Amino acid sequence: MPWNPDQYHKFQSQRSAPFDDLLKLVDIRPGLKVVDLGCGTGELTRRLADLLPESRVAGLDSSPQMLAQADTVKRPGLTFELGDQATLSGEWDLIFSNAALQWSENHPALIPHLYGCLRQGGQLTVQVPSNHDHISHQLILQTAQEEPFRSALNGYKRHSPVLSLSGYAQVFFELGADDIIVFEKVYPHVLENSDAVIEWVSGTALVPYFERLGPEKDAFVAVLREKMRTAMPGSPLFYPFKRTLFSVHRPG
Ligand SMILES: C[S@@+](CC[C@H](N)C(=O)[O-])C[C@H]1O[C@@H](n2cnc3c(N)ncnc32)[C@H](O)[C@@H]1O
Repeated sequence: MPWNPDQYHKFQSQRSAPFDDLLKLVDIRPGLKVVDLGCGTGELTRRLADLLPESRVAGLDSSPQMLAQADTVKRPGLTFELGDQATLSGEWDLIFSNAALQWSENHPALIPHLYGCLRQGGQLTVQVPSNHDHISHQLILQTAQEEPFRSALNGYKRHSPVLSLSGYAQVFFELGADDIIVFEKVYPHVLENSDAVIEWVSGTALVPYFERLGPEKDAFVAVLREKMRTAMPGSPLFYPFKRTLFSVHRPG
């Protein structure tokens, strides 16, 4: 997928609040072997690494564009590599992921796979957006099903693979995980207007559509902009954004 670091960074301060909450769930211990799945441009991986003394932290991402920027934050004990989070291998003390696992399908299979890569006593700590029922996301889905976009997209539309809170809790119970924590939090963002919502989703939810729309991309954005202006009038605009956070340990 053509991730664009500049577009993604436009809302960096708003996006770092859930990362801060995720960090609070991490057990700080020395000498850990850690992976950050979907590490993006690496600044937040660096913050994670700086918190964990004498640890080896690897950032993994499938986007060469995002990883190109991660090079600038490398240091001894912090490395970055290209790869697919869904096929993670090896054994880890901490598997961490902020705002990335929603890009891999089939969480009832993905989560047990990642859990299986934990060492005994290891921790899995994840944040994923769970805002897919918000009108902004519903309008994206609706527009994708209208012509000429439906044909340009070849019928493609993206449904979030993110499970319900109890869905994740059930998966962890069945895995025999310890210290199961699963919760949702609303991040109360205030944006200038609905056009700013389009800017926001252009760095995330719209990425797979932009990849497929070809020359229809600008028309798609124009139609979406009109729908969002009607559905979300006013300035400033309150944009409540729901995110799911979870943390578990593999018994030691
Ligand atoms: C929303 S960004 C989050 C980046 C970073 N974790 C942060 O919190 O700023 C999502 C990242 O997931 C990466 N990604 C998407 N699918 C992936 C996959 N299958 N394997 C690894 N990384 C993936 C994207 O390239 C992108 O950098």
